[in-house]
Amino acid sequence: MKSYVHGYQARENERLQDQAGALVELLHHDTVYPAGSNVLEVGCGVGAQTLILAQRSPDAQFKSIDVSAESIGKAKQKIAAAGLTNVQFEQADIFDLPYQPESFDHVFVCFVLEHLPRPREALMILKNILRPTGTITVIEGDHASTFFYPDNVAAHAAIESLVKVQAQAGGNALIGRQLYPLMLDAGFDNVKVSPRMVYVDGSRPDLIDAFTRKTFTAMIEGARESAIAADLVDPQRFDEGIKALYRAAERDGVFCYTFFKAVASKR
Ligand SMILES: C[S@@+](CC[C@H](N)C(=O)[O-])C[C@H]1O[C@@H](n2cnc3c(N)ncnc32)[C@H](O)[C@@H]1O
Repeated sequence: MKSYVHGYQARENERLQDQAGALVELLHHDTVYPAGSNVLEVGCGVGAQTLILAQRSPDAQFKSIDVSAESIGKAKQKIAAAGLTNVQFEQADIFDLPYQPESFDHVFVCFVLEHLPRPREALMILKNILRPTGTITVIEGDHASTFFYPDNVAAHAAIESLVKVQAQAGGNALIGRQLYPLMLDAGFDNVKVSPRMVYVDGSRPDLIDAFTRKTFTAMIEGARESAIAADLVDPQRFDEGIKALYRAAERDGVFCYTFFKAVASKR
């Protein structure tokens, strides 16, 4: 893996927790695994989604992996603190999985394909470790789905600079729109994609704080140094853009972003 664009600092860990917490109902009201099934969660990070998965399907067994040993350590603590016993963690790379073919009933991947240089290959590897009746769930964002009021060109430039930083690191921050063709191309069947729009206005102060400010704007802010170092945006323009995103998080502002959730079967 080339350098992971969001990094592993404490602020990013908090951002992942805020993101997961803010989006539980929108992304997971239909994420439930049957009792007795074994599920592989790929790229679990600090366990923000793991907690939701394990709580919602207490009788399923989860194996959660990440390439970062440090993140795995934090995820373990989080799950133990919640008193959950249905998750095992392992440090592993998607491109070098230590599992036999057909070892899992289900696979879950959230905000990971966007960081991979070869997402189609990753999906094919995941298909191989699924049992014949298995399913895969993939959730990804698409940063170009962002719109807000008041609109501001500098804010779009700041967002675009993160898209470019991520592309230079081998990823694709616009991958959400591509899930359907990608999954078909990787050989999955019954691919169903549903767009999940987060709509935030002044009537939802909880989402203004947890999503507009602490998830999305914090993510763009986190790209400041790398975007400026790579000469992808002028520092003043970037800062003006961030200010405008915070402006859209005021009580008379509006913010929209769309995630894409795909569910497919092996055959
Ligand atoms: C944006 S985080 C998402 C974490 C978690 N799924 C969530 O939604 O909170 C992406 C995670 O993918 C992991 N990752 C990136 N490339 C990977 C690879 N090749 N194999 C396993 N994990 C990987 C990173 O270490 C990081 O923890």
